[in-house]
Amino acid sequence: MNKYFRVEYDDQKIAWLYFDTEDAATNVLTEEALEAFDQQLISIAQAHPRGLVILSAKKNGFIAGADVKAFATIPSAEAAKKLILRAHDIFHRLEALSFPSVALIHGYCLGGGLELALACRYRVASTEAATRLGFPEVRLGIFPGFGGSARSIRLLGHLPAMQMMLSARSVSARTAKRLHLVEFALPKRQLKNAARQLISDQPPAYVPPLSKRLPGNILLRPFIARLFRRQVAGHARPEHYPAPYALIDHWRNNAGHAAQMYAGEAEQVSSLLTGETAQNLIRVFLLQDRLKGLAEKSDFTASHVHVIGGGVMGGDIAAWCVLQGLDVTLQDRTPEHLGRAVSRAYGLFRRKLRDHYRVQNAMDRLIADHLGEGIGKADVVIEAIFEDIEAKQNLYKQVEPAMKASALLATNTSSIPLEKLAEHLQQPARLIGLHFFNPVAKMPLVEIVTQTGNTPQLIADAICFARHIGKLPLPVKSHPGFLVNRVLMPYLLEAVTLLEEGVPAAEIDQAATRFGMPMGPVELADTVGLDICLSVAEKLSGTLGNPVPDNLRRQVEAGHLGKKSGTGFYTWTKGKAQKEKPHAAPDKLDHYADRMILRLVNESMACLREGIVDDADLLDAGVIFGTGFAPFLGGPMHFARKIGKEEILSKFRKLEYTYGNRFAPDPGWEDFQT
Ligand code: NAI
Repeated sequence: MNKYFRVEYDDQKIAWLYFDTEDAATNVLTEEALEAFDQQLISIAQAHPRGLVILSAKKNGFIAGADVKAFATIPSAEAAKKLILRAHDIFHRLEALSFPSVALIHGYCLGGGLELALACRYRVASTEAATRLGFPEVRLGIFPGFGGSARSIRLLGHLPAMQMMLSARSVSARTAKRLHLVEFALPKRQLKNAARQLISDQPPAYVPPLSKRLPGNILLRPFIARLFRRQVAGHARPEHYPAPYALIDHWRNNAGHAAQMYAGEAEQVSSLLTGETAQNLIRVFLLQDRLKGLAEKSDFTASHVHVIGGGVMGGDIAAWCVLQGLDVTLQDRTPEHLGRAVSRAYGLFRRKLRDHYRVQNAMDRLIADHLGEGIGKADVVIEAIFEDIEAKQNLYKQVEPAMKASALLATNTSSIPLEKLAEHLQQPARLIGLHFFNPVAKMPLVEIVTQTGNTPQLIADAICFARHIGKLPLPVKSHPGFLVNRVLMPYLLEAVTLLEEGVPAAEIDQAATRFGMPMGPVELADTVGLDICLSVAEKLSGTLGNPVPDNLRRQVEAGHLGKKSGTGFYTWTKGKAQKEKPHAAPDKLDHYADRMILRLVNESMACLREGIVDDADLLDAGVIFGTGFAPFLGGPMHFARKIGKEEILSKFRKLEYTYGNRFAPDPGWEDFQT
């Protein structure tokens, strides 16, 4: 036994090597763990067992991947290359063992973990829902570097392996079996026997059929590489996200030559890893970890949630909680109001769960409850009725006395100060905000809106609940717009002002996506609904010092609400905005992007100065996960730090001179450290 591994030999002379990192819930392939693994391989080889089974002693999975934290501090491309070459040596040693080896997989088997499994002769995986095998590397701005690009292609064939690496999507054990990534997908209790069987039988290794090997032909590769590039270009620009393009080039140049594949990996991945995009994406990964870690201060558990208001938000929050395994009662004014929410939930369950039995099970846990009978049993009550102070206050008068003393009372309000809403509660300090984003099933963030009286324990419990339902919690102060809507609104309003100036919508959107936003602001406003944008803009106009642009008001008055009404700033056909081909020159696009993005960045600084969030890193995390702000730039404050204080102040002053004081730099920039 050492800090990472323990080995046991059974009576059949099989070595069982347990990965069991001391004082950690999850196994990660740190540099130290890799060295310890190598030592184990050397001593196991000397013992000449009949076979080796590598498995994890952790509940949550096999191996979560390489050590992403260490990637953030890797000093140079040379150091990265050294680490990669060392991992190659160790996995080659595993692959070359004279006896069969089996990776026994349950739970996470990602990145470096899957690469280790691929170096074993066989793999078996558990069919439990938590089992996921995949290469998430391109999300971190790199591609598999511990031999994974070479071995996955050899085992799966060219196209399936490339698709798996380029998409970063993980697969279940059953899909892994279909792909021939694992020999067996079985219930967990049968895995050890399956491993023993493989060691006894030693079946020949799977070789993909000619049809899967053919795309690697030297004459076909350039053509297929072009198709891959076209596919990737649909969602990632090479100047923003170079990793998938580097993987395609690596495949085109090296596929078919094992040694070249390993050398190419080491060369390419080490240079990507130390590049700006990967470092920023690693930053985003670590920020996400920080948000997840906020939940550790409480052990609050919930099994029953009661949601009041079965509209756009309440209905979807209820369905989401069911998907996360909770029992949910959903209340609205009449049973008729609940019908739409329940049928929307059914659609979501079918999309996410597929299997008829699981869909039925989910439907059984979503209970329409127009009389509010679930309130007394619920561990969490979430109010999501109309955005109306009196309606909400009146509702709380009925709800509070019926609730369990230990239950959380949360509101999904997007603009009403919590202190105001809590005025007539017997215990005003028990009200907290859980601000979900639309669409609930897609948006990862939930703002945990706190008010003065909330105890640290209550805040910790709310954070823990948000995490329990798979969301990223961000604590924010109760102030109009909280964080996300507050920084998003000036960006959207600047886009509407550009429209008013006569700039075509498609050019405005192009300027933003070219900068790195996932969707242009005009399309976003149309998608959210111009009525909702107008209502938020009106509520925030005091805080933002930005009058509501006339053309936004006019659109709403004319009933042009965006995607949902078929017309907004765009005309929408079959759910798609009809855009004209944009023609603006690059410097114009840069200027439009500057105007929109710098307003978002300036408002971010205002939020930071006012203490809406605790620090700049949390702000960056919130804006990335709440608005989709270009992840490869690491967040608005990180982006500002990169530009530098003097440069950013000079940009604001120039824009202020031309367009007025909405561009006046926030006073917070004075103390900004770059
Ligand atoms: P909605 O208008 O779609 O739904 C409100 C629902 O509440 C309706 O079904 C209504 O019948 C029901 N309701 C009203 N009074 C009730 C009462 N006394 N008892 C039981 N049910 C009652 O509204 P939406 O958009 O779902 O918004 C709900 C809350 O979520 C609001 O506070 C809003 O500010 C907030 N929010 C909305 C977002 C959005 O994008 N729509 C995003 C984030 C928060």
